[in-house]
Amino acid sequence: MIRRAAVAALLLGVSAMAVQADVVAPTTPPDAPKFDAQGEPVFVNRSDIYEYKALPAYNEPAWVKAFVDAGKLPPVAERLPKEPLVYKTANEPDGTGVYGDVMRHVIGGRPEGWNFWAGQSYGWGGIDIGLVECLTRTGPLFEVNATDLQPLPNLAKSWEWSADGKTLTVHLIEGAKWSDGEPFTTADTEFYYNDVVGDPNVTPLMGAAPETYSNGVYANVDDYTFTLTFETPFPESVLYNMAYGNFCPGPAHLLKPQHPKYGGKDYESFQKAFPADYMNFPSMGAWVVVEHRPDDIVVLRRNPYYWKVDEAGNQLPYLDEMQYRLSTWADRDVQAVAGTGDFSNLEQAENYVEALKKAADPASPAKLAFGPRTIGYSLYPNLSGNGWGEPDANSQAIRELNRNLDFRKAISYGLDRQRLGESLVKGPFTTPYPGGIYAGTSYYDKDSTVYYPFDVASAKAELETAGLTDSDGNGFVNLPGGGDLNVTLVTQSDYQTDKNLAEGVVAMMGDIGLKVTLSALAGKDFDNARDSGKYDWIIIRNGTELITVVSNTTALAPVGPTTDVNHKANGAGELDLLDYEKDMVDTVNKFIASRDPAERKDLMKHYQNVYTTNLDGIGLTAYPGALIVNKRFANIPAGAPIFMYNWAEDNIMRERVYVPADKQIGAELHPNTLPGAPGSAGPVTAN
Ligand code: GLA
Repeated sequence: MIRRAAVAALLLGVSAMAVQADVVAPTTPPDAPKFDAQGEPVFVNRSDIYEYKALPAYNEPAWVKAFVDAGKLPPVAERLPKEPLVYKTANEPDGTGVYGDVMRHVIGGRPEGWNFWAGQSYGWGGIDIGLVECLTRTGPLFEVNATDLQPLPNLAKSWEWSADGKTLTVHLIEGAKWSDGEPFTTADTEFYYNDVVGDPNVTPLMGAAPETYSNGVYANVDDYTFTLTFETPFPESVLYNMAYGNFCPGPAHLLKPQHPKYGGKDYESFQKAFPADYMNFPSMGAWVVVEHRPDDIVVLRRNPYYWKVDEAGNQLPYLDEMQYRLSTWADRDVQAVAGTGDFSNLEQAENYVEALKKAADPASPAKLAFGPRTIGYSLYPNLSGNGWGEPDANSQAIRELNRNLDFRKAISYGLDRQRLGESLVKGPFTTPYPGGIYAGTSYYDKDSTVYYPFDVASAKAELETAGLTDSDGNGFVNLPGGGDLNVTLVTQSDYQTDKNLAEGVVAMMGDIGLKVTLSALAGKDFDNARDSGKYDWIIIRNGTELITVVSNTTALAPVGPTTDVNHKANGAGELDLLDYEKDMVDTVNKFIASRDPAERKDLMKHYQNVYTTNLDGIGLTAYPGALIVNKRFANIPAGAPIFMYNWAEDNIMRERVYVPADKQIGAELHPNTLPGAPGSAGPVTAN
């Protein structure tokens, strides 16, 4: 170890330098232990997965045909768009499927209500991923060749840029319908863009804002065409930001009348207009919610208007029902492995050993496959010094410290990341994570990555440099002229992993003399604290941008008032960016504007260097997750990661997943029923 300051102090013989005596020089991060993903994707081009075309004839389950025969539903050909989205058989791992059966999910979240566009959560775990369809799609990109890497079309069938790159023209699929039979048109996209994204009083669940779309100006051309006009040419990141969970329009025919601009009472009533007991809320997704028993289950039945088919003309989905048992995230792992549930993203490392042991038994009902190391956690100091989250005097003092690099270095030096990872699970899974772009991903560059390794003496020296000393001798540093500095660390309490990491951080900070108090918040309370800046420090499971860079790129830096996770604008819309943050913003904007792959690589090297040198977020640990799916399901693509461009619930393309007839388990709660009218009690039968 080179103790630079110590050497300098010796040479100069200056005793005042003793304060700095023990600071270890930063280095590059250690290499991650080798961990091979199980199952490689079969790489293809986007056009190998699906296309849009008319087929000579279409099929549906016999029990759905009974609705048509009873005069309760138009014939399938009339329910489908002119040119439906057609999945290609050659890309289906097990080929054309059969109808029937159910996928039994278990989730830890709870549905709040169905106004996703005004910020209501559906409870995660794949409910919203299945209910809101978006203009483009990115989940399946894990299997797309690097040379063809662009978002997949979805509700947007195609798009083109004007010659000057300042106008993007988007063509929607023509003649697709909502699950209640109403047409899907630019009335829906216009409402989403102008009255959700463009209305500062409305915050959609995943936080899309005008800068998410490079402040493009929206205009309708006709029922199926709209344009976005930009000030800078070719902001191609907008196409990625049209995927889940951003440009996923809601049914304007239900939402618009509740919006205050169009006669709705007020913004709060708008948000709460479709509570969790409102059934049959119209969807463009493959299934529609027909039952919700609080703390028990949410049941979805097939959408008779779904606009995707297989090459044989079978209307999708193959699975007639989706269930979401309302339990805990840990129970999702337990049930998937036991075979009483069908699916889990094994992501809480504490459960790995047990799950692996059970899944290794040849008689295990579930298949478990590890993917790349894409689950990672960081500790984020709140970087706003001008009032985001309305801090009191004590928190404001902590904000000032958070904005001081010496203080952030103290935190990093104080973290034994190896031990943090091993406190979750021993073995080759976890690796120390310095923060920034993940090792093993395409934009990662080790030589650009700066790592302040564990060293208690360095941590203490940095605290002192930041002006913090233990003036009352009780083992914890004091605020200058005051009592103990006491940092509140917010963590998500629905996951054992988050809590364990937070407890580890509290203990390690204690060892360097920094008092940290845990505030563990559940579900929506955690989300609210995170999004409104009501925290000193927060622990977050990172998003897709630090894995893929191209997806959700605007989240990489505070390029707008609300895009960055730990630094948003205050109530007056002002962002007080630090100099290095301005550099990050500039770099990300250049990345978005560049179409030159070599330049984009270099820009991300610079980004990574600035991010990790300045500890914009303080990485903790990163590890691989495993996908667990019951063995009866067919068409699960090889190498589907639990998280990359999106979660596995999107990656595996559930609408084309099926269960062979002899393996179906007859677990449907509402057999032979379809969703009823919006707001009505539940599903309906043909007679
Ligand atoms: C939660 C779960 C993830 C995944 C997502 C889907 O966050 O922890 O594994 O299921 O929901 O939105």
